[in-house]
Amino acid sequence: MFPWFIISAVLAFVAQVSARPALPNDQESFIISRLDPYPAKPKLSFRPDGTFKISVFSDLHYGENPAGTWGRVQDFNSTRLLTNMLASEKPDYVVINGDLITGESAFSDNSTKLYDQIMAPLILSNVPFSCTYGNHDNQVNISHIEELQHEVQVAPQSYTRASPSGVGGKGGPANYWVPIYFRPSDPVPSLILWFFDSRGGYDEHDVPIPDWVDDSVAGWIEEETHKMNKVWGKGEERGSLVFMHIPPHAVQKLQANLTDEANPGLNDDDLGEGSVQSTVPPLSACKDECDRVFWDSLTSNIKNVHAIVSGHDHGNEWCAVEPSKGVVFCFDKHSGYGGYDADHWNHGVRNFLFTSANASDGVESWIQYETGESKARVRLRGSDIYVEGKTRQ
Ligand SMILES: *[C@@H]1O[C@H](CO)[C@@H](O)[C@H](O)[C@H]1NC(C)=O
Ligand SMILES: *[C@@H]1O[C@H](CO)[C@@H](O)[C@H](O)[C@H]1NC(C)=O
Ligand SMILES: *[C@@H]1O[C@H](CO)[C@@H](O)[C@H](O)[C@H]1NC(C)=O
Ligand SMILES: *[C@@H]1O[C@H](CO)[C@@H](O)[C@H](O)[C@H]1NC(C)=O
Ligand SMILES: *[C@@H]1O[C@H](CO)[C@@H](O)[C@H](O)[C@H]1NC(C)=O
Repeated sequence: MFPWFIISAVLAFVAQVSARPALPNDQESFIISRLDPYPAKPKLSFRPDGTFKISVFSDLHYGENPAGTWGRVQDFNSTRLLTNMLASEKPDYVVINGDLITGESAFSDNSTKLYDQIMAPLILSNVPFSCTYGNHDNQVNISHIEELQHEVQVAPQSYTRASPSGVGGKGGPANYWVPIYFRPSDPVPSLILWFFDSRGGYDEHDVPIPDWVDDSVAGWIEEETHKMNKVWGKGEERGSLVFMHIPPHAVQKLQANLTDEANPGLNDDDLGEGSVQSTVPPLSACKDECDRVFWDSLTSNIKNVHAIVSGHDHGNEWCAVEPSKGVVFCFDKHSGYGGYDADHWNHGVRNFLFTSANASDGVESWIQYETGESKARVRLRGSDIYVEGKTRQ
């Protein structure tokens, strides 16, 4: 731990410096330092060989069947998968994209223990990571904010953060971004990872929580991208990846046009009731419009989004272009042995591999199974999906 008196001394010095009339350069570096949301953590950067790999684990669903035996076997299996795939994939960053715990069967005491089981392989491997939380992580005895607070306490290399107060709405505190630099010494990041809290589930009184990203996040995206553009230059000069547990509503219509050639990967879950946003009956009146304000802000303010990535639908692995906004949407791979499942789905991760110093040049992505098989390999760039030499617009 970093001694607090050093931090306060540094803060006092920075405050003093910023109080002086500064040269434009000083001012800029002051703003840049304020645009580093992780001043006390290592700056995340590409490998010396110029690559950066992200492995996405999703829908672990720990803690099912707490009184019986199969629940524990599932969790044991999920821990084995985490351990083995961290070793085999050697990611530079890990995303856990929601539904860590099946909160319906969790008591607060044991959910802390369950959480520690999930964290253990990550802590041991020392890989930097962060999380989104899912509808099953908001239940009577657990909540997104409790998971977040526990996580950052036990896992020093977690980059998960809560959004400023007033941003995220009820049950949705985890909206944040993480900058990835090409070289640690670079003043401007090459890649921004965005994380949004799609909420859902129930509050402590068993009242349903809306299962879409709150409108308040739209204004926050605008403010954050405005600051980034001012300090770092135009958004077009960086790459972005976006993670949220429940798919945004706009992707529901993509399913009608999928083909095996253009959209490789499993397509076993119908997107409809229960699998995209606006699904909780008393709250569903807004339908397609529920997350419109967020969706419009995301797709207009964040540039070079190579993919918006969600889990939640365990039987889907495909990527597709949303034509009205020209953005690519991709499903995760169901990683956990918990949660609804089918024998032939297998378990694994979705990988992203950046190979250019300029992350706006695109990213390779594929599904990697625990059993070693890899599939559905695509190259994503802006609004394009390239599959084995073919382009789909
Ligand atoms: C969970 O915690 C409750 C009370 O704290 C306890 O009664 C129960 O046995 C625990 N369940 C498991 C599976 O550990
Ligand atoms: C645990 O994993 C093994 C090996 O993949 C599998 O055969 C078994 O069915 C799994 N059990 C459960 C409960 O997930
Ligand atoms: C929440 O935990 C309490 C005990 O702490 C338990 O009585 C209750 O059944 C739990 N609720 C659920 C939905 O698991
Ligand atoms: C990255 O590439 C884009 C075009 O693809 C270009 O506009 C931008 O200036 C480049 N950024 C840097 C930092 O070189
Ligand atoms: C689906 O395909 C039709 C016919 O090519 C096209 O008009 C429509 O825009 C497509 N819709 C989506 C969501 O891709």
